[in-house]
Amino acid sequence: MTDEQGQTTALSKYNTLKGIHDIFPPDVFVWNKIERTAKDLFYIFGYDEIKIPVMESTEVFTRSIGQSTDIVGKEMYTFTDKGDRSVTLRPEGTASVVRCYVENALNRRPAPQKFYYVGPMFRYERPQKGRMRQFYQIGAECFASASAEADAEILGILNEFFNKLKVPELRLEINSIGCKACRPDYNSALTRFFSQKEEFLCGDCRARLKKNPLRILDCKVESCGQLRKDAPLITDFLCENCKSHHERLRELLTSRGISFRDNPSIVRGLDYYTKTTFEITSEHLGAQNAVAAGGRYDNLVEEFGGPPTPAIGFAIGMERLAGLMKQFAPSPNTPFFYFAPLGEEALNIAISLAINLMDKNISSICTQWQMSLKGHMKRADKLNAEYVIMIGADEIQKNTAVWKHLSTGTQGEISIEDIGAFVTLHEKRLKAERS
Ligand code: HAM
Repeated sequence: MTDEQGQTTALSKYNTLKGIHDIFPPDVFVWNKIERTAKDLFYIFGYDEIKIPVMESTEVFTRSIGQSTDIVGKEMYTFTDKGDRSVTLRPEGTASVVRCYVENALNRRPAPQKFYYVGPMFRYERPQKGRMRQFYQIGAECFASASAEADAEILGILNEFFNKLKVPELRLEINSIGCKACRPDYNSALTRFFSQKEEFLCGDCRARLKKNPLRILDCKVESCGQLRKDAPLITDFLCENCKSHHERLRELLTSRGISFRDNPSIVRGLDYYTKTTFEITSEHLGAQNAVAAGGRYDNLVEEFGGPPTPAIGFAIGMERLAGLMKQFAPSPNTPFFYFAPLGEEALNIAISLAINLMDKNISSICTQWQMSLKGHMKRADKLNAEYVIMIGADEIQKNTAVWKHLSTGTQGEISIEDIGAFVTLHEKRLKAERS
């Protein structure tokens, strides 16, 4: 058993691996709410679910994410299977979706083709708050639309999603990292700039200088971070096409009331990006502050053997989002009604009332054994129930029950016959408040 910092808090013969967590109630209720909200929104925006494998042949990731990235260079769970093939636990979803898109000729479906996925990813990173070795992503990928309107739609979905979940104070930062036409000039400028500082670069970045200087911009080593402060900016090298694409996206976001900030240092840690890149961060998350990120990858489908197909997508980090939800949103899925029967006869009445409610899909809890009133109240409080409905010997005589609203302390008496109507009425209001 681990606490929020991942420290073991109880003796157990077996524990999860470092950087890997169980997700159980009440946290799992928050996770389910996140997933439900995302799936409802994907339906509205015409995204279909795609289930991609947890393992792929290693090349799927090395070719797309890039040999000189930290993910491929240091963080992949790669092993040789019994058939002597190199396989890797997926560190992200985009590469697999593209592999699936090309392998199954999904380009034959009406364009644009839109897919989403939910599931665990694996990266052998140094675990810390918000950075796990197994973490979950909700991802979306939109194929066959090159226009800035597609970028705006992707960012619009994220905006709507976080609004629906009532996550406050998020910051959207966007950038363009150019295309095949303008990136080579930028790479040359970076090579010139960092060559003068080569002796101060870390070992990895010295290799990156030769192979892929852009990657120096997202090196996590502190001294490399200092060196890149005055590095040339991509925005000074964009071709006309990339510039006008970015300008159009800015206009669309502004006209839709989506606030954003340009940040020319968002180059992302994966090699497949072209043009638009973005990150959504929260200052309430600590050092690992990106809750969602993504961008355009217009060359990847072709690099995987498919026809030239522009594409754009994002992935949301579920652990980080659940962490924010726990800070800001009321916990969903706690029972609305807790029955507190006192005595055997009351227990039988309460159980049949609760079964009736559950038949109507109303969340209620009733113990299957006898307890004191104090015990009931403690338990209802722990379960975060909204109302307690008490039935004791006096109430049975009068054919009534006493209800109590736990957070305000208000209480009253109703007849047993009216409990169904009382509960249905309050359940509607509570559902609306919690959704
Ligand atoms: P990414 O920036 O590597 O992008 O990951 C997306 C999100 O996953 C991050 O913003 C963060 O919330 C979460 N995340 C990443 N690594 C960890 C970790 N070790 N522990 C906890 N959460 C983490 C991608 O994965 C791209 N595939 C996104 C994309 C989709 N681009 C285009 N389409």
